[in-house]
Amino acid sequence: MAASWHRVTASSFGLFLLLLSARSSGRPLEKCLGDKSCVSTRPPVVLIPGDLGNQLEAKLDKPSVVHYICYKKTDSFFTLWLNLELLVPVAIDCWIDNIRLIYNRTTHTTSSPPGVDVRIPGFGETYSLEYLDPSKRSVGMYFFSIVQALVDWGYTRNDDVRGAPYDWRKAPNENKKYFLELQHMIEEMAEKAGGPVVLIAHSMGNMYTLYFLNQQPQAWKDRYIKAFVSLGPPWAGVAKTLRVVASGDNNRIPVISPLKIRAQQRTAVSTNWLLPYAHSWPKDQVLVQTPTTNYTVQDYKRFYSDIGFEDGWLMRQDTEPLVADLTPPGVAIHCLYGTGIPTSVAFQYSDKFPDVEPTVVYGDGDGTVNLQSAIQCKQWIGKQTQPVMLKELPGNEHVNMLTNLTTVDYIKTVIYSP
Ligand SMILES: *[C@@H]1O[C@H](CO)[C@@H](O)[C@H](O)[C@H]1NC(C)=O
Ligand SMILES: *[C@@H]1O[C@H](CO)[C@@H](O)[C@H](O)[C@H]1NC(C)=O
Ligand SMILES: *[C@@H]1O[C@H](CO)[C@@H](O)[C@H](O)[C@H]1NC(C)=O
Repeated sequence: MAASWHRVTASSFGLFLLLLSARSSGRPLEKCLGDKSCVSTRPPVVLIPGDLGNQLEAKLDKPSVVHYICYKKTDSFFTLWLNLELLVPVAIDCWIDNIRLIYNRTTHTTSSPPGVDVRIPGFGETYSLEYLDPSKRSVGMYFFSIVQALVDWGYTRNDDVRGAPYDWRKAPNENKKYFLELQHMIEEMAEKAGGPVVLIAHSMGNMYTLYFLNQQPQAWKDRYIKAFVSLGPPWAGVAKTLRVVASGDNNRIPVISPLKIRAQQRTAVSTNWLLPYAHSWPKDQVLVQTPTTNYTVQDYKRFYSDIGFEDGWLMRQDTEPLVADLTPPGVAIHCLYGTGIPTSVAFQYSDKFPDVEPTVVYGDGDGTVNLQSAIQCKQWIGKQTQPVMLKELPGNEHVNMLTNLTTVDYIKTVIYSP
């Protein structure tokens, strides 16, 4: 979800200590069948990360650069995300010019700037989402604690617990190949284990997973999916994206200018995909206020026009239908969501809108995802035959919930349930 990685940084030492004490001595469950072959009853696990939630790599051979210190050409791929060294003043201008996307109004697709080749490392492995920063300086710890807990229960990294990283700058409409790879990986893991797979998604990864499941026939889901554990799901979008596209959001990292990083943040189609959805937001609730205009979920066209980002309106229209009807996933789903953390619900701007920092109005949620968005899982109760469970995690922040013992214990009960 729109950048909370600074929080990962700030709290990672504490989390690391928590992890050490959290290790459980769980043992792999073996079930011996009549034919005396012992079959592991542990379901394979696939992890689907959120926005900014896995590494990206880039290789350059650019016709021009925005500053003389920027590399124009590199011999090999380097880490574009997360690499804190690239986010310092001046270097960040180079970084923005490499990670931004260019929207084509004819094809309704995006591409990297000329001479920038971006790839997603580690599909099928866990490293690129355990730590966002490959140097593992405990900075950017993400899925590590969940993966480590699984390993402690008998799982093996990159074998029966695997990651499904993707290009989170884009929405599912531009990631068709990803979904095929995900499908094949799930099938392969299920065949090998002799049983269905548990999907664990975080944040925007839940929207991706819902889109994926909505494309699969019910027979496929019955055969291959045991359960879907949904952590911090933004089913109805997230109010904070409005600020991101209007004036940028540096996540309170002082060296990063919000207006500067806005240039990159706007071009990510996924940010526009995650604007609040009219199906769950009151039609008259003011999300963005300026001295002259109030914007609600019904005013996005005007909003994009007024912030001078017309491509954003096209991106929104391209992506809004992807999961907007919230078709039930058709698998057992467990929605875990944090509450009690101040979460932005509205932004008040001066007449300098949009080139100024807003005053933020807060409501309930996990600090990123608004409560009313996370709890939309409840819509599915009674609309599918498979169970729909909701679990509130009071006091859990959006990213920190991945390291909380309650979350890890919950995952364990799902995995070892019959
Ligand atoms: C957009 O895509 C079309 C079709 O591929 C291409 O002809 C056109 O040059 C592209 N526009 C830009 C601005 O790159
Ligand atoms: C915007 O809405 C607020 C209440 O939310 C109201 O006080 C204000 O007058 C409205 N402004 C405009 C320009 O309509
Ligand atoms: C973990 O989550 C539970 C349930 O929300 C909460 O009570 C607890 O304080 C959290 N623990 C930590 C260390 O944040």
